[in-house]
Amino acid sequence: MSNPRTLRPARLAMPVALVAAALLAGCGAQNKTDPEATASLIQPVARVVIQAVTIAPGSRTGEQIYKSICGACHDAGAVGAPKTGDAAAWGPRLALGHDGLTASVIAGKGAMPPRGGGSDLTDTEVARAVAHLANFAGASFTEPPVAQ
Ligand code: HEC
Repeated sequence: MSNPRTLRPARLAMPVALVAAALLAGCGAQNKTDPEATASLIQPVARVVIQAVTIAPGSRTGEQIYKSICGACHDAGAVGAPKTGDAAAWGPRLALGHDGLTASVIAGKGAMPPRGGGSDLTDTEVARAVAHLANFAGASFTEPPVAQ
């Protein structure tokens, strides 16, 4: 029992218990005095969960699709993708028009897989994502609206 290692847990037990008690007391006080603050703190998490459940294929916006799929390559110009907002890289491509570019993405082009890898995207969703992406580089495509 002279090994100092075996003594350490006992020495720590008291301060740890005090800190735990203080933290618990703090939580309790917060709940009692401000339930609305607690609700607003957890709200962002709840919102994300609700979105994941309610956004059905077919009704995703261009921004949502871009952020979850297209940005993986286009944000930084990975694997030769024309970088988002890079007007020089997009200029010649924009000449294909909204429909032409949408057709490219549906079919896949070069290192870009069909539908940009989003195999469950509808054609309309691809068109939304193309508008969102190309408009950063100066296009003025109209994103097909999401039916409510
Ligand atoms: C795996 C990487 C990757 C992902 C993910 C990706 N792209 Fe691409 N994208 C590319 C590359 C690489 C090119 C250039 C292809 C070429 O010209 O050879 C490209 C080109 C394009 C073009 C121009 C097509 C043309 O005809 O010039 C559009 C529009 C486009 N992407 C939109 C999208 C959209 C919308 C998404 C999401 C649904 C997406 N991309 C996802 C890599 C990607």
